[in-house]
Amino acid sequence: MPDYRIALIPGDGIGPEVIDAAWPVVAKAAAGDDVTLTTTRLPYSADHFLATGETLPDHAFEQLRDASDAIIIGALGDPRVPDNEHARDILLGLRFKLDLYINFRPVRLWHKRLTPLKHAPHIDLVIFRENTEGQYTGRGRSEGIGTPTEEHISEEVNTRSGVERILRAAFEWAQREGKRRITMSDKSNAIPFQRIWGELFEEIGSGFPDLEREHRYVDALAMEMVRDPGRFEVIVTNNLYGDILSDLGAGLVGGLGLAASANLHPGRPGLFEPVHGSAPPLAGKNVANPMAAVLTGALMLRALGHPGPAGRLEQAVTTVIAGGPTTEDIGGASGTTEVARALEEAVGS
Ligand code: NAD
Ligand code: IPM
Ligand code: MN
Repeated sequence: MPDYRIALIPGDGIGPEVIDAAWPVVAKAAAGDDVTLTTTRLPYSADHFLATGETLPDHAFEQLRDASDAIIIGALGDPRVPDNEHARDILLGLRFKLDLYINFRPVRLWHKRLTPLKHAPHIDLVIFRENTEGQYTGRGRSEGIGTPTEEHISEEVNTRSGVERILRAAFEWAQREGKRRITMSDKSNAIPFQRIWGELFEEIGSGFPDLEREHRYVDALAMEMVRDPGRFEVIVTNNLYGDILSDLGAGLVGGLGLAASANLHPGRPGLFEPVHGSAPPLAGKNVANPMAAVLTGALMLRALGHPGPAGRLEQAVTTVIAGGPTTEDIGGASGTTEVARALEEAVGS
């Protein structure tokens, strides 16, 4: 009977509400396969930072790295921390320090009424977002502050090994899942240092002859994802474009209340989080949609090797979206807790 050690960092804003609502649903689905989830709740958040000055202390990082099978984050971000220091340290800090180079972000239309597109197409794609370099390394400098030549320079890092491993992960997953097409997106027409993406996409892709390769500049891809999202199956791109395209994708299928993500490095414990943030205007009102957090739990269970309970969570979400109750963001009038109760029932049935 597998027993996993799960670290929960509910975080800020709606994070604690969606985690508290979603977790019993996830635990119930797991229990159906005799999988036990033993959780440790960690306090790291804006409140904790403002009270103690600590973002993620070393001992906590070591515990997360050495003594957990998976980490779940609710959301981090708070207007009282305007430079976002704690969120960068905790969220980006864990992605980088645990070297979780794959940010896996599915975009799936769970019910036709949820898309704002007129012709309710079939939408089922996955974004493979590079997660440890690009514009996110913090490399850069500010110079000449207060002078007429003041500059703020942010460096974009594209290493051969970093680009290669995310491309390979996307190709391997696409092949395993029986996909037919893989789309790589960059902006190498304007940023020549990104050409390594195209070179390696061809080189690695030649080892996957059954997968049709296509390249789209990211501006054109954003347009095409709205015009004809059904043609995309797997999109692989850099850290920043993956961040932006995953919110665009969420917008096509019902919004951030349904978007889940997994930060992975095969063979290591993963970090799982809804794509949404702390949504400060919604916090404390019992209106946030807990489904993104539930679907994040499904990604965790699948990564731990339990597709059965993961599938039951996805089925419960499908059932409750179709028959209600749902939160306002997807057209209902119910609260977070009521939706979670309905999901829990649906998991059991
Ligand atoms: P956000 O995702 O918090 O909210 C954007 C919009 O989506 C809002 O209109 C919000 O009402 C809606 N929304 C988000 N989640 C929802 C849910 N579960 N149910 C219903 N509606 C939902 O993005 P933002 O407003 O740009 O950012 C707020 C804060 O969150 C910022 O501090 C930002 O840095 C942070 N953030 C954190 C994460 C994370 O922790 N993974 C992700 C994105 C943003
Ligand atoms: C996300 C978020 C984060 C990111 C922020 C909060 C740093 O937008 O997980 O999508 O940019 O990666
Ligand atoms: Mn984002």
